[in-house]
Amino acid sequence: MKIVNSIEELRTGLAQEKGVGRSVGFVPTMGALHDGHLSLVKQGVEENDVCVVSIFVNPTQFNDRNDLATYPRTLDKDCAMLEAAGCDYLFAPSEAEMYPVPDTRRFDFGTLSQVMEGAYRPGHFNGVAQIVSKLFDAVKPDRAYFGEKDFQQIAVVRAMAKQLDLPVQIIACPILREEDGLAMSSRNVRLTPGQRQKAPLIARTLKESTNFVPGKSVREVMEYVVHTINNEQVMRVEYFEIVDGHTLEAIENWTDTTYPVGCIVVYCGEVRLIDNIKY
Ligand code: PAF
Repeated sequence: MKIVNSIEELRTGLAQEKGVGRSVGFVPTMGALHDGHLSLVKQGVEENDVCVVSIFVNPTQFNDRNDLATYPRTLDKDCAMLEAAGCDYLFAPSEAEMYPVPDTRRFDFGTLSQVMEGAYRPGHFNGVAQIVSKLFDAVKPDRAYFGEKDFQQIAVVRAMAKQLDLPVQIIACPILREEDGLAMSSRNVRLTPGQRQKAPLIARTLKESTNFVPGKSVREVMEYVVHTINNEQVMRVEYFEIVDGHTLEAIENWTDTTYPVGCIVVYCGEVRLIDNIKY
């Protein structure tokens, strides 16, 4: 695995690969890798001749300084995992490399970036679009892989690729879960043992709630999920919305869409956990 820190070096290396007709798969990450990331890398390795992974904790997508400061950073361990997973290039740039000058671009993805994460983390998706567009520009991948845990992020990245007319196929990969159902996340390591024990309640409740569809109304299902999780002392639901999986518009009736998805964010102690379920 080649480890490169500069965009120029990455471009030179990848130009040679593309020059001999090799396809390029790309997995953008913020590091602190877990099996969820590795499943994306595995798919990237299988479906392309060359697999590139980036590790960059992107400051412009954090609206909370503390979240940025405490985001786990485990580069040495990540390198070993990527090497073992068959990654060809690890791109690990510095902040100065990615933002030599402040990025003043403002994206507008309408509803897709305004609801849910967009409402609770103002500026988050603008930062995601800034960095992903810069990374796409550096890598110019044929395919890029994103985990469905960040369901809204995939919709935003697809919209961005369309707006910028980028010839990249965005591939959504299923959520990987721990044995007890907790969605894998870099943030899970910040849970105390007690919180870690409680955290699977989120996935369990979402799964249970699918049994009530279509018998109970959308509102009743929402109330069930929020109430059940909030009943646990260490948990606080920040939002739970049932939306059309394409437009991300909230639905009122099950018949409003053929693709209903429940998207949730829960604080478990101080740790912000995200998950979703298809109904
Ligand atoms: O999902 C993430 O880890 C990040 O939002 C991404 C896509 C790597 C952009 O910084």
